[in-house]
Amino acid sequence: MTQTFKMDEPLPRLLDETRQGLIGTPMNRPDGPLKVSGRADYAADRLPDGTAHGVLVRATITKGKVTRLDESALAGIEGVVAVLSGPNFVRNPAQGMAGESPVQPGPRVDYHGQPIALVVAETFEAARDAAQRLVVEYDDAGGAEVDPDSASEVETDDPDATGDWDEAWGRAAAKVDVTYTTPGQVSAAMEPHAALAHWDSGRLTLHGSQQMLRFNRKELADAVGVDPSEVRILSPYVGGGFGSKLGIGAEAVSAALASRDLGRPVRVVMARQTVFDAVLRRTQTSQHVRLAADADGRLLALGHDDLVSNLPEESFAEPTTNASQFTYGAAALRFQQSVARIHRTPSGSVRAPGEAVGMVVLEAAVDELAGELGMDPVELRLKNIPDTAPLTGQDYSGRRLADCLRQGAERFGWAQRPKAERDGDWLIGCGMAAAARKNMLTKAAARVRLTGAGAVVETDMTDIGTGSYAILAQIAGELLGLPESKVEVRLADTDLPGASGSGGSFGAGSTGSAVFLAARRIREQLAAQLGCEPGELTLQDGIARGANVEKSLADLVQDELVGEAEIASGEAAKSHLSAGWGAHFCEVAVHAWTGEVRVRRMLGLFDIGRVLNRKTATSQAVGGMIWGLGGALTEELHHDPRTGHIANRDLANYHVAAHADAAGRIEADFVDDRDDWANPMQSKGVGELGISGSGGAVLNAIHAAAGVRIRHLPATPDKVI
Ligand code: MOS
Repeated sequence: MTQTFKMDEPLPRLLDETRQGLIGTPMNRPDGPLKVSGRADYAADRLPDGTAHGVLVRATITKGKVTRLDESALAGIEGVVAVLSGPNFVRNPAQGMAGESPVQPGPRVDYHGQPIALVVAETFEAARDAAQRLVVEYDDAGGAEVDPDSASEVETDDPDATGDWDEAWGRAAAKVDVTYTTPGQVSAAMEPHAALAHWDSGRLTLHGSQQMLRFNRKELADAVGVDPSEVRILSPYVGGGFGSKLGIGAEAVSAALASRDLGRPVRVVMARQTVFDAVLRRTQTSQHVRLAADADGRLLALGHDDLVSNLPEESFAEPTTNASQFTYGAAALRFQQSVARIHRTPSGSVRAPGEAVGMVVLEAAVDELAGELGMDPVELRLKNIPDTAPLTGQDYSGRRLADCLRQGAERFGWAQRPKAERDGDWLIGCGMAAAARKNMLTKAAARVRLTGAGAVVETDMTDIGTGSYAILAQIAGELLGLPESKVEVRLADTDLPGASGSGGSFGAGSTGSAVFLAARRIREQLAAQLGCEPGELTLQDGIARGANVEKSLADLVQDELVGEAEIASGEAAKSHLSAGWGAHFCEVAVHAWTGEVRVRRMLGLFDIGRVLNRKTATSQAVGGMIWGLGGALTEELHHDPRTGHIANRDLANYHVAAHADAAGRIEADFVDDRDDWANPMQSKGVGELGISGSGGAVLNAIHAAAGVRIRHLPATPDKVI
């Protein structure tokens, strides 16, 4: 029987009473050795006998229709099996978060680079050759708009606003009224999108690279026209997602359709250039920020409007102002979004959708205000932390923003920082920014089985490099009094209970809570067997102790005990606003003659409630900070102004921060806290918090070093000099 949980009241703090000592420890990832020794089988690593290879063909027009696929040029290529196209062909990954069906436009082309056909051959080389030689004839509609700044179709939402804007703006002593732009970004997961599909008696099995299997199964079933119960997806190892694998993609749908047509397994792996073209991008943004403060630095008005873009019928719009709506308080607030409808690769969720680009700009603008006021930027932020959430009136749950700011400043040496110093040809300066990212709790189920030998955790949760295998073993081990070596974690198979999946930084908290509650059910059963109350039970190192009995689990559990639990849908606490918080501090060196920026050191101090695994949490935070650094300095999609086609379609021309860019000390740490309203474990998401604001600290440091405000990211040398 499954226990369903609703977050309407905080649970007793069981994790503070258990004694196994696993939660929070920097446990290594059990999947690590498998990965570094090549034994972890990713989707593309499987090649069953008889597998055919598919290569996606991409549109070379921006808008129109495919009228004919001319296969005559393929005649001389040995081993071509089929060319697949038609009305079921998926255009792009759906918004997996909502579980929407993928858009299937048939022969319609909506952007340059859109997958329009799959060529299948006996070998990958033959398929690639044929895909390049296939002649596609189009009815080109022409005149497609590809530039958000001149788009004729722009949808503008009604503003979210409170207070009297004109009055607040009018009486301010200091003001900032600035427009920043951020470029498009790509998720750039190391593992390209890959799928191996095969059918057996009308049932589809897909080995894929996906983030949210429960949703992905439904999407894939919709796309190929079968019931979800006929679809099984397995993604035991995923080489990064960052949002790009939240929804089902063209590689999975085309592999599934081709495999059914051909009656044999079909594997489709996207080439890196196809990933750039065909996978959701992060939109470019234009952001207008207005800040007004009184002479003491109290915010009177805070306005944040944006212009983002997407294809005409896409529902997603980058929620740029997310964190601006709850980080600071002001007498008057105003937020408004505009979406330009243009024909570029569709935009969707890329790591920390909203905050990743919104916080960079908000925090750079706050730094500008500190300059106008002649005030320390840490002080200015401390002064404007509101009592309750400004737009909703909600109370904040565990919010250690002020501690992150103060303790971070202390540890970084903010008061003694180098100010506009020179080191040879390098100008040195420091900047800081706040971090905020809303915390989510989503539907998730898990099963835990306890035998005399140990425990098994079962859920279709994914591990996209974040540490799920380790964290879920820690949670079950902690509650059941077992060392990590006695807990086996089985993930990422849709035949197992449906988890939250990995996305929105809710994975560890949501699915971890389901595991926590399932293990708690087992504790109740053990207590009953020992004749004690659950509260009197202690479990440690395989020994169960009741009020006055002590038994080994091996003696106590004859066959197995099973606990199942589920976090119900939409049951995050509504009374409180739960978010991750933090502060970034950064020191840069700017080359006086070339404008090159080097980050010398960065410190991020974060409030993520209870830390579940210090090592994986630190890795997530540092990884996010480095992405923010890359976003501030180098990352940028370039689009051909005539066609909208992404011009820099590989990792040589699209520069993701590499080791040399993060060669300084990049440190992350956590203030220890418990968030009663986040989830039953009192933990909060960390994956996307590190990127939120970190680029702002870099931009502010550049200003401190070189006196230049970079308002159009990235801060490449031509702009800095
Ligand atoms: Mo994240 S962009 O929700 O994978």
